[in-house]
Amino acid sequence: MMSRLRKLNRRQATVLAAAAVLGLAVVGSALTGQLGLALGLLGIFLAGTVAGLLFVLHRLAQLFALQRTHQRDVRKVLDHTQRRLLGAVEEMLLTAGDRHREITDKLAAQQRGSANGVDRLLRAQTAEVEALFQLFDGFTPRAPMPSSGGFALNPTDLLDVLHLVQTRRPKLVLELGSGTSTVWIAYALQRCGGRLVSLDHDPGYAEKTRAMLAAHGLTEVAEVRDAPLRPVLLDGRSFPWYDTDAVTDLDGVDMLLIDGPPEKTGPDARYPAMRVLEDKLADAATVVFDDAHRKDEQQALRKWVETIGGLTEEGEAPGRHAVLSYRRVVRQMAAQ
Ligand SMILES: C[S@@+](CC[C@H](N)C(=O)[O-])C[C@H]1O[C@@H](n2cnc3c(N)ncnc32)[C@H](O)[C@@H]1O
Repeated sequence: MMSRLRKLNRRQATVLAAAAVLGLAVVGSALTGQLGLALGLLGIFLAGTVAGLLFVLHRLAQLFALQRTHQRDVRKVLDHTQRRLLGAVEEMLLTAGDRHREITDKLAAQQRGSANGVDRLLRAQTAEVEALFQLFDGFTPRAPMPSSGGFALNPTDLLDVLHLVQTRRPKLVLELGSGTSTVWIAYALQRCGGRLVSLDHDPGYAEKTRAMLAAHGLTEVAEVRDAPLRPVLLDGRSFPWYDTDAVTDLDGVDMLLIDGPPEKTGPDARYPAMRVLEDKLADAATVVFDDAHRKDEQQALRKWVETIGGLTEEGEAPGRHAVLSYRRVVRQMAAQ
């Protein structure tokens, strides 16, 4: 009870004190026989009580109105938040849907791509196996043959080169970059006449190829010459290319196989070939250019055909090489 009284604010304490004084006055005047005063004071007390009740009701009505306003505001905020939330969720769902479709499309494209890749690989593999059968069917090597593919010409390229040798019957083949192809070409030349000179910038590989030629009994037909790379100046650019001392005695090359220097020796590594060796070619010659699908080689091929008269690319060749035909323009004109 005392603790509740202590919690009253000043206005409440004043009203309570006034009511207590009025009550005491009513009791006092009744006990002293002043009934009129007692009734009057009681009337004041009741009127005060009624006024207090009306005041409390008024305050309660105000509080209810305030609460309703607050409720409306809260509902508005809730509605707004809910709408924004729904909008965000809807957007997220749409984005997720788009992303899902994108990923599904990409996956499908990748699956199609890898299926095509596997298919292409299988077809290429089959072509190489078929070419190998034909190579070994055409020649019976006298010693184990070195591997083809990788650093060396692929079986499909080798088969086409051997076909060119057998049908065009070159007298002198010049090869840039020795290896497996040197042995195969030497076998073909041994059968149809003609000789092969192969240049190699690497003394170790040159020696290996020489040893293979010896093992196959082909040294009468083919030789490997050491030709270290030296700077060659062309179009204001310096290229590391085969030492031309290695070919000073050569003339009338009617088949040129360009398969070196290797790509790693520098950009446009094989570009100098036709520029340096044109004078060494016979009036009519065949040029085989391996790795013609590569960017540097494609650029070199385009530049040669544009700048060297009488040089044209023949129809599409199988595998990775291109075949070009060379007809000396100046001598043809002089003869006319
Ligand atoms: C593109 S390869 C020439 C390959 C050759 N024309 C053939 O088809 O077998 C270029 C250079 O690779 C080097 N080479 C030769 N035999 C090699 C081997 N077994 N492994 C790696 N490089 C080799 C040689 O220095 C050669 O000049």
